[in-house]
Amino acid sequence: MANNKILFVTSEAYPLIKTGGLGDVAGSLPVALKAQRNDIRIIMPAYRDAMRKAEKLGFASFHMEGVPETVRLLEGRLPGTTVKLLLVDSPVHFDRPGGPYAAPDGHDWGDNAERFATFARVVSAVALNKAGLDWQPDIVHCNDWQSGLVPALLSQHPNRPATIFTIHNLAYHGHFDSSKFQSLHLPHFLWGMQGLEFHHGLSFIKGGLVFADMINTVSPTYAEEIRTPHFGYGLDGLLNHRADRLVGILNGVDYKQWNPANDLYLKHHFDSHKLDGKAKNKDELQKQFGLSQQADTPLLGLVGRLVEQKGIDLVLDIIPQLMELDVQLVVLGTGAKTFQAKLEAAAAKYPQQIAVHIGFSEAMAHQIEAGADMFLMPSRFEPCGLNQIYSLCYGTVPIVRHTGGLADTVIDANEENIKLGQASGFHFEHASAHELLPACQRAISTYRQQPKLWKKIITTGMKQDFSWKQSAKHYLELYQTAQQLRGKHS
Ligand code: ADP
Ligand code: GLC
Repeated sequence: MANNKILFVTSEAYPLIKTGGLGDVAGSLPVALKAQRNDIRIIMPAYRDAMRKAEKLGFASFHMEGVPETVRLLEGRLPGTTVKLLLVDSPVHFDRPGGPYAAPDGHDWGDNAERFATFARVVSAVALNKAGLDWQPDIVHCNDWQSGLVPALLSQHPNRPATIFTIHNLAYHGHFDSSKFQSLHLPHFLWGMQGLEFHHGLSFIKGGLVFADMINTVSPTYAEEIRTPHFGYGLDGLLNHRADRLVGILNGVDYKQWNPANDLYLKHHFDSHKLDGKAKNKDELQKQFGLSQQADTPLLGLVGRLVEQKGIDLVLDIIPQLMELDVQLVVLGTGAKTFQAKLEAAAAKYPQQIAVHIGFSEAMAHQIEAGADMFLMPSRFEPCGLNQIYSLCYGTVPIVRHTGGLADTVIDANEENIKLGQASGFHFEHASAHELLPACQRAISTYRQQPKLWKKIITTGMKQDFSWKQSAKHYLELYQTAQQLRGKHS
């Protein structure tokens, strides 16, 4: 079985570069696929930071068909793994300070269309074995809009590999002015509503959604949701048209990185049988963030991109009521300036109870997951969400909105689920502060008044298996289907 040749196309991969969950997925799913005897290579832009961190980097190729001579291909290893890594080295596009998509001032790079079109051209050359590597994949697995042009560019080639497009977040389209279509010299047949055109502009994500042989998203519930106008961002019609090619596969956890029993970022380790280390991490966290060190005060954590998707405004709306409940809140995140400012103002108003760190820190993310009692994730939509899964693994009870991957991973502590011994967190239905508050109240009163039940909820979450093994198998099935349907219209 297995033994597929897979080219995994991504714009970020932990530990080379990461802005969110895609980085985690690209840093771990390929490892799981390799463990199931597949020949997999990750291909990613050669960002300055990624070049510094990649292992055993050497030149792989200088001349690729259809690619400017200024672009080279480097080959190395994803650090800490045996997975081969290809880096697309176009210095004018990728050798700069800042993030993969945005400049240090937070604004998107003005040449993102050129950057990711160049990336897609190189990926296509590799996919067609025209990059001098003497290797042709059977499968090209693309992720999000940054690799959306790949299935489009490959679509007309008779000997092309099968293509998969994974939607990690439908809200980000890679939408550019229509003039870019000309200036990027994209083939004419790709224009139009049956192609890359979207609201008179050029949409990179449509390249994946229209042309990939199979499409998936990262949870079964989100796969259903995106076929409705509310979650579809104008693409629900297209997704319904391709419904026979769309499936949901839940993300997994890389237990080498996220395991409270041996987490490198923690001073105290613990597991579901020995929870005292968790209390010590709470104490450390309170100390580190300058909160009063009270063992019995419920401590709520939040880590994430501070954007509308994550429902940060709902949390801000209930801060006065939460503070009256005598709880503490630790927030780590970066994102919209207004959310940052409001969170910092709240921390200034309640210095004993609220601590906010604006920035990106892998260490702090782990320490909050380990030290908090509860984790807030009131997302408006959530394709999968990894933070609530990490919370479950770390005995930090998630309070989540019933949507997408949150609904698929956290089981609400209602009477029935408690009786069944399945409850692992607290749900609320609608994206409103009026519903978030009662969910928090339920969690806080369970914590205070029913310690035995609380412990059961914690250990139920900790005992779940979120390893990649199962999901990797589903991806292999998806690859097989894509190969069978390659080039057939849906
Ligand atoms: P999304 O991909 O929508 O951002 P996920 O929950 O899938 O949401 O994944 C977020 C990932 O990014 C997690 O690994 C989380 O710990 C990490 N993360 C988000 N913001 C920060 C931050 N400010 N510092 C450190 N890690 C962060
Ligand atoms: C996206 C989604 C998140 C998902 C992650 C990895 O950024 O917002 O829900 O977990 O991708 O698939």
